[in-house]
Amino acid sequence: MTSSGPDLSVQVAGIAMQNPVMSASGTFGYGMEYEEYLDLSELGAIVTKAVTLEPREGNPPPRVRETPAGMLNAIGLQNPGARAFIDEKLPQLREFGVPVIVNISGRSVKEFAQLARMLTVDGVDALELNVSCPNVEDEGMHFGVDCSSTGELARAVVDSTDLPVIVKLSPNVTDIREIAVAAAEAGAHALSLINTLLGMSIDIDTRRPHLGNVTGGLSGPAIRPVAVRMVHEVAREVDLPIIGMGGIMSARDAIEFMLAGASAVAVGTANFVEPATMRDVIRGIADYCRRHDVARVAELTGALRID
Ligand SMILES: Cc1cc2nc3c(=O)[nH]c(=O)nc-3n(C[C@H](O)[C@H](O)[C@H](O)COP(=O)(O)O)c2cc1C
Repeated sequence: MTSSGPDLSVQVAGIAMQNPVMSASGTFGYGMEYEEYLDLSELGAIVTKAVTLEPREGNPPPRVRETPAGMLNAIGLQNPGARAFIDEKLPQLREFGVPVIVNISGRSVKEFAQLARMLTVDGVDALELNVSCPNVEDEGMHFGVDCSSTGELARAVVDSTDLPVIVKLSPNVTDIREIAVAAAEAGAHALSLINTLLGMSIDIDTRRPHLGNVTGGLSGPAIRPVAVRMVHEVAREVDLPIIGMGGIMSARDAIEFMLAGASAVAVGTANFVEPATMRDVIRGIADYCRRHDVARVAELTGALRID
């Protein structure tokens, strides 16, 4: 430990981050939306909401619903499309001086590959493949729940870019380790997990679903134990860095993910509750390292003790 405190820096798939804390895709806009609440230059990285080839309107409302210890969402990948992202959002995002990870989604392997080529530009540090969005009919999801299609997709993207490729895994599978192995064998550089758990809720008075899309993705503290278990399982099976997420509200939660095997963490739903959560998580991790004589935060990755 130096006099200035613990070393919080981590490397994930060749991306040098000043600390292990980043935004979870879709919960932090393009970053700028949060500028008045926290200093974005303090973050480990910024992960954008999903970018698609063409602009998307998203799903019919209502799109979000609060649940016990979490929320259901069915946004449906609303975004301005790749061209507008590159021209209008990316130049502003680069100003913060932290790595920019662009989350991408497509209807086919070809579309993902085309997006990867388009986004291989200055200012983009990595691509995260949303192979697992549960809210869009006949999209991402069917890649993320099947080993061979996850592998085929990851391979096509890796072959289309020289950027690091992060495959984001769906928890809506029988055994997440099989999908993780397929992504690793296809050449992915890192994995992020978990995306939302497929859920549903019903208004008993109207007898209608609360969400316009009928089903949606469950996120927030309710899913954290599932996510920690999945990070633990995947870390033991695959030799790739993991970005862990699912219900992180505090530094304690983030550290839990790192002990389970994550090299970095992402904060999602908590940004809606308290927009400065990431700042507090970064500070809390530093405090924990000081209290536990941890010189480098990277030492926490996989440091779980099981007798
Ligand atoms: C409103 C909302 C929008 C999301 N949009 C995306 C998205 O565009 N792409 C993606 O890969 N994941 C998306 N996610 C999933 C999150 O990035 C994250 O994996 C998940 O919510 C679990 O983390 P959390 O419990 O901290 O929110 C979204 C989640 C929410 C709540």
